[in-house]
Amino acid sequence: MRHLFRFKNKTRNHSNITSNDLNIDKQNIPEHIAIIMDGNGRWAKQRKMPRIKGHYEGMQTVKKITRHASDLGVKYLTLYAFSTENWTRPTEEVNYLMKLPGDFLSTFLPELMEKNVRVETIGFIDALPEHTRKAVLEAIEKTKNNTGLTLVFALNYGGKKEIVAAVQMIADLYKENKVTLDDINETTFNDYLFTKNIPDPELLIRTSGEQRLSNFLIWQSSYSEFVFDDTLWPDFNENNLEQAIKTYQERHRRFGGL
Ligand code: IPE
Ligand code: IPE
Ligand code: MG
Repeated sequence: MRHLFRFKNKTRNHSNITSNDLNIDKQNIPEHIAIIMDGNGRWAKQRKMPRIKGHYEGMQTVKKITRHASDLGVKYLTLYAFSTENWTRPTEEVNYLMKLPGDFLSTFLPELMEKNVRVETIGFIDALPEHTRKAVLEAIEKTKNNTGLTLVFALNYGGKKEIVAAVQMIADLYKENKVTLDDINETTFNDYLFTKNIPDPELLIRTSGEQRLSNFLIWQSSYSEFVFDDTLWPDFNENNLEQAIKTYQERHRRFGGL
């Protein structure tokens, strides 16, 4: 028993937690769930491990949560993996984070294919190191015909820069008389964002107890329901996801009406 426990503790990634105990309404699953995966560093620090170990474990959580979101019938799962502000971290940590997409996709692509998951990204992909960009573009290409869950990685993503880039594109077109002032509205503005083909998230989750957006989907989350979970991302599991969905289902969304 003792041996078994230690073994289980060591592998950590395939937890036996089952759904259903929370009785979530399977007919009212958010179409788009966005997650600010936070707390990897603190998870590692608590264990006196280097921060990158926390990021490694966080990658295992990404696999687990992707599987479960797909099983629940979620259509879009957007994961904040690297912000435009995260470049200010120590070089060693940034380098490791830039290696993760390649590691993740090379080990998980067969399962993504099996589960019919399509990979997408939002963010300034061109500014990523070549090896990171290559891994991501390859996964996008290989999964482009899959019709199940769309797994969106926000990589080098920042909401303010996204909006400024959209304004620049529109200003350019205006200068060339290709758009008029009347053409610019909330719907058309959307077409210049990274998320042009993705509906706004109904549910936005942040782990680790922090309660802020940190420049994530600032336009798209205007009417999202926010759920904050104290769990550090490497410890976040299927039950936490279902709990967040349950909280979402108990909310009354009004959109300014009554
Ligand atoms: C989130 O975990 C992952 C990324 C930002 C890449 P952190 O690395 O921010 O972990 P904490 O917040 O320091 O615990
Ligand atoms: C937000 O987390 C970015 C990602 C999860 C990728 P941070 O840890 O960078 O956010 P702050 O610095 O606590 O606001
Ligand atoms: Mg953090």
